Amino acid sequence: MNPTSSKLIHVDTASGSYDVVVGTDLVSSCGERIRAAVPKADAAIVVSDTNVAPHYLSTTVASIVDAGLPCSAFVVPAGETNKNLGTYGQILQAMAEASLTRDSVVVALGGGVVGDMAGFAAATYMRGIRVVQMPTTLLSMVDSSVGGKTAIDLAVGKNLVGAFLQPSLVLADVCTLATLEAEVFADGMGEVVKHTVLASPALFDELTERPVSQDASNEHLIDVVSQNIEIKRDVVSADEREHGLRQTLNLGHTLGHAIEAANGYTLGHGHCVAAGLCCIARATEELGWSEPGLARQIERCTAAQDLPTTTDISLDEIYRQATHDKKRHGSTINVVVPVCIGAARIQTITLDEMRTLVELGCSARG
Ligand SMILES: NC(=O)c1ccc[n+]([C@@H]2O[C@H](COP(=O)([O-])OP(=O)(O)OC[C@H]3O[C@@H](n4cnc5c(N)ncnc54)[C@H](O)[C@@H]3O)[C@@H](O)[C@H]2O)c1
Ligand SMILES: [Zn+2]
Repeated sequence: MNPTSSKLIHVDTASGSYDVVVGTDLVSSCGERIRAAVPKADAAIVVSDTNVAPHYLSTTVASIVDAGLPCSAFVVPAGETNKNLGTYGQILQAMAEASLTRDSVVVALGGGVVGDMAGFAAATYMRGIRVVQMPTTLLSMVDSSVGGKTAIDLAVGKNLVGAFLQPSLVLADVCTLATLEAEVFADGMGEVVKHTVLASPALFDELTERPVSQDASNEHLIDVVSQNIEIKRDVVSADEREHGLRQTLNLGHTLGHAIEAANGYTLGHGHCVAAGLCCIARATEELGWSEPGLARQIERCTAAQDLPTTTDISLDEIYRQATHDKKRHGSTINVVVPVCIGAARIQTITLDEMRTLVELGCSARG
């Protein structure tokens, strides 16, 4: 049997360029690739979490050591509730105890939580050292590992402290997706559907006809993941610091975040984004802001991935949560309007218009 071929995606940004490799067996071969991407590296530390480490940490460290780079490891407790100042401080402490220098490299092995937190530690240790992202969830492959945003949460809100640090290399090994919980895999598909609505009618149609499941072939997973990374790459390269275009990546997120908060964060982020995407499409189509038939198209694709297209949360509660959104500037809110499959635009709306969007979009019941 032929080995599965990998895809190479080059990302150019104003603050540097890097490669994203999407393929198989990248965990076991990461050492040479990291050495090539960070040739001056004198040492590495792999940061992972308690769910990921038992599967992939020893292979990662062994590959880096085999490539001739001294390597230590630090394992953080899994989960968003640990993406905080305390864990961040422990990572920095471990980096200092491992005597990392300004030439050393942090390897983030895990989902978006590890990627954001290890990335922020790299961005701030000795005023910034290099980071290599090794995303192990679908969401972190298609979303958080590309673009250079790093962050931790404060008790009052998510991602309130952070920095921009472009990675030196991203290695997305689709074999790691096999050990994900089904719900976590599906969360990633919520962002995948969002990306295709923004920028890829061809992939949108393909996903509707041929939904992606966790046991898809490696070739199919590599294809879908790499196309999504290209979509995110094209947006963030054009707008590295989120002044305009990058805001379109928030499609489905104003109502999605409201649904997520109203559910007390018990329903996964990607599930809430999927429902939020269907809600906003129903509302904007009704208002004549989107192409006729768009909402039905998005609902079909979303349902095909076994993601929700509606929510049971009351309209009052969604409105209350949506108007707390951080994008609120005074008495207006920026929302991303899906115009047709392949195009979206930012629209500034009033609180009354937000009320209308919620009423038109969120009253459907599953
Ligand atoms: N920086 C950005 O641009 C950006 C973009 C989107 C999201 N994010 C952040 O990403 C985070 C969410 O990321 P996520 O959905 O990957 O969550 P996560 O990192 O918490 O991973 C989800 C769960 O899966 C486990 N896991 C990860 N990989 C695994 C594997 N291969 N096998 C078995 N279990 C595995 C984790 O331990 C965790 O329990 C949030 O904190 C969010 O703010 C950042
Ligand atoms: Zn999201």
